[in-house]
Parts: sequence; structure tokens; C-alpha cells
Amino acid sequence: MSEDVRPGLQDVVVARTEVATLDLERERIVVRGYDLLELARTVRYPDVAHLLLRGHLPSPEEQAAFCARLGDLAGLPDGVVDVLRRLPAGTAPMDALRTGISLLAGFEDPGVLEDPSVEAAEAMLLRILARAPALTAAAYRALHGEPVLEPNPGLGFAGSFLWMIHGRPPAPEVERVFDRILTCYSEHELAASTFAARVASSTLADPYAAVVAAAATLKGPLHGGANEEAARMFVRIRMAGGEAAAEPYVLERLARGERIAGFGHRVYMRRPDPRAVLLREDLDGFAERDPDAAVLVRCYDRVVETMAREKGLHPNADLPIGLLLHLMGIPVGLMTPIFLCARIAGFGAHVLEQRADNRLIRPRARYEGPTDLRPPEGFTPPRC
Ligand code: ACO
Repeated sequence: MSEDVRPGLQDVVVARTEVATLDLERERIVVRGYDLLELARTVRYPDVAHLLLRGHLPSPEEQAAFCARLGDLAGLPDGVVDVLRRLPAGTAPMDALRTGISLLAGFEDPGVLEDPSVEAAEAMLLRILARAPALTAAAYRALHGEPVLEPNPGLGFAGSFLWMIHGRPPAPEVERVFDRILTCYSEHELAASTFAARVASSTLADPYAAVVAAAATLKGPLHGGANEEAARMFVRIRMAGGEAAAEPYVLERLARGERIAGFGHRVYMRRPDPRAVLLREDLDGFAERDPDAAVLVRCYDRVVETMAREKGLHPNADLPIGLLLHLMGIPVGLMTPIFLCARIAGFGAHVLEQRADNRLIRPRARYEGPTDLRPPEGFTPPRC
């Protein structure tokens, strides 16, 4: 057994995968052989989900069938919304979504839930993927005492998602950017949440359990929670005076030893995250249409310049996405749930790969505590 301890498993290779890789030399994210950014520009999120779950981009017939299936499955089973309405009013949407995914497991046929085959897992993952947007929007609306809306599959996956949040069809340019965000979030090799999904899956836990484990891991501000932190930062800078307040805001936080959400990355760290480069372009569209958005985009650029100068750090995907979602009118609490919904396709691909060639993931720890302690003489255990 190697006694070499690598905190945070930095640079430790723990799996073989055909799902994705981060090609640092060519600054590309490769998903099943394709450049993720090219996919974001040229195809729609459901095509990428098909690529991830089924291994290839769909033919026109497969695309029609896959989208129809996602639409058919998009509604929530009876009773789910009632449970969401009973959650404590202060429940975070991310916690409600995680709870909702657990709840959906109860609506599966027990035989399918316990079936360890790849085919059964794929069918369940498709149901989770299709229902997650309705669950996200319903959780938010139920927690805020608002009417819950049915999916509108005629608007497409991204359009229906925005419809259920806002209660109106999105403008085409907004829907296109939202779809691109979903693709950018769809898969990113062994992020902490994906690893959690693979660990859960390696115990032969069902895909609902694997996605719940991933959701719990995604929530933290060092991972998926960063998009919400980034959005809050831009709102604070705007309230503190806009563009002129951006640099002092960053400098003050760095002087206090704080981290700036949306910067840095375990794998890229001092290189650009290609997703952030692509999505910065989408901010321009909002700035051109809306003067308030233009102020926020200038704040964005000042924050980026300050972080590059002070820390040599580049934005990760969560920085532009936090601001883009804010500019679309998405409530902050829904930003990490949206990340989760998009990443379900990636989690699914890894769960299927883990199932196809499973070995329990069970590493070791180097023990550094005492070894020869004994209970005190006459010690009686408490009666509880
Ligand atoms: N703000 C300020 N300093 C930072 C930041 C940041 N966002 N990120 C890294 N650093 C600094 C650290 O202080 C450290 O500096 P030091 O060497 O002088 O002590 C150095 O960069 C290395 O940081 P580590 O924490 O060792 O790097 P690690 O790989 O463990 O952390 C992480 C990666 C968690 C993403 C980190 O960059 C971070 O906290 N970023 C902010 C949160 C964030 O944006 N998370 C989203 C990640 S991407 C995603 O989930 C889509």
C-alpha cells in the first residue's frame, strides 16, 4: 500500500474514462471526442445529453425520439408538489431539489430500482434528467407560495425550463444562452460531485442515490455553489457604486484573506477555463440590449482584471454563468440547482461507465492517531 498522502487527491488518477478529459495543452474540454465549446455553439443541450448517456450524437430520428421522450417524462408524479409545499419555508432550493430527487426514487418500480444493469440505470437516469427542471422550478415556486407550472415541452428543454421558472416563454436569444450554459455545465471529467456519484454508484447504489450524493457535493461554495456567490458579488458591487467599486471590493476581500467566487480551479488554476472564455462573449449581448446590464458587465471586466493582476487567477465557468443567470432574471437560489440539472447528463455518463465495469471505490487513510488507549478503570458506559 502506498503511504503517499495527496491532500484533496490533487493530480491523483482514480479512474479510466471515455466520457471526458480536460486537455490543458490545447485548452479544450473534450467530451466523448468532441470539443465541448464547439458543441455549445453548434448543437443543443439535449443532443449533448444524448451524447453523454448514449455515447454518440443523435441522428435526426434519434434526436426527435430523444426530445419527445424527455418531453413525455418531464412532468412530476402526483404528490411530489404536495411534499415540496410542506418543506420548511426557509429551505434552500438546492436542498429542496436534492430532497425531490430522493423522493422520485420512491416512484420507481422497486424491481427497476434494484436492477444493477446498465440498461436499467440508463432508463432511470433519463427520468431524473427529464424531471429535474420541473422539480427545480416547482421547489422554488412551492417554497415561495407561487403556483407551480407544468412543463411546456413545445418550447424545448431549455425553453421549458425557463418557462417553468418565469411563467412566460423566454426571448429566443435568452433561451439560446441558457441552452449554452446547460451544455457548458453538462460534463467536466472528475469534478468532486462526479466523483461522489461514482463512489455511490460503485457500491451498486441506484442512480437516484448517486445523483443525490452528487447534489450534496455540488452544493458547496468551492464547487457548484460558486455561481450563486459570484452573482451576489456583482449585485453587491453594483450597490456599492458600480464599476468604480469593483477593484476596491476585490482588494478588500483579498486583504481579508477571502476567496473570490468564480476564480481558480483545481485543474486549470492559473490557466483560463475555456467555458468562461466562451460565455464572456454572451455577456456582450446583454450589455448591448440593456444599460444596467452594461454596468454589470463592466464590473465583471474590472473584477477579472484585478484578479489577474493581484493573484494571476482566471475566471472559471461560474463567474460568467452567475452574472448571465442574474441578467436573465433567475433568482440566485436557483443557480446551483440549474448547474445540477445540467450536470445530471454528465453524472449519468459516469454512473453508466462505473456500472459497466464496477469495482467498489474504497481508498485508505494513513492513521496518525494514538493506538494503545484503554477505557479508564471502572468506566461504565452511559445508559443512553
Ligand atoms: N480567490 C482568491 N485566491 C484564490 C482563489 C480564489 N477564488 N482560488 C485559489 N486561490 C489561491 C489560494 O489562496 C492559494 O493561494 P496561496 O498558494 O497563496 O495559498 C492558491 O490560489 C491555490 O489555492 P488552493 O485552495 O490550494 O487550490 P485548490 O485547487 O484546492 O482550490 C478551488 C480550487 C476550490 C476551486 C479554489 O480555486 C477556490 O476556492 N475558488 C473559489 C470557488 C470557486 O469558484 N469554485 C468553483 C470551481 S469551478 C466549478 O465548480 C464549476
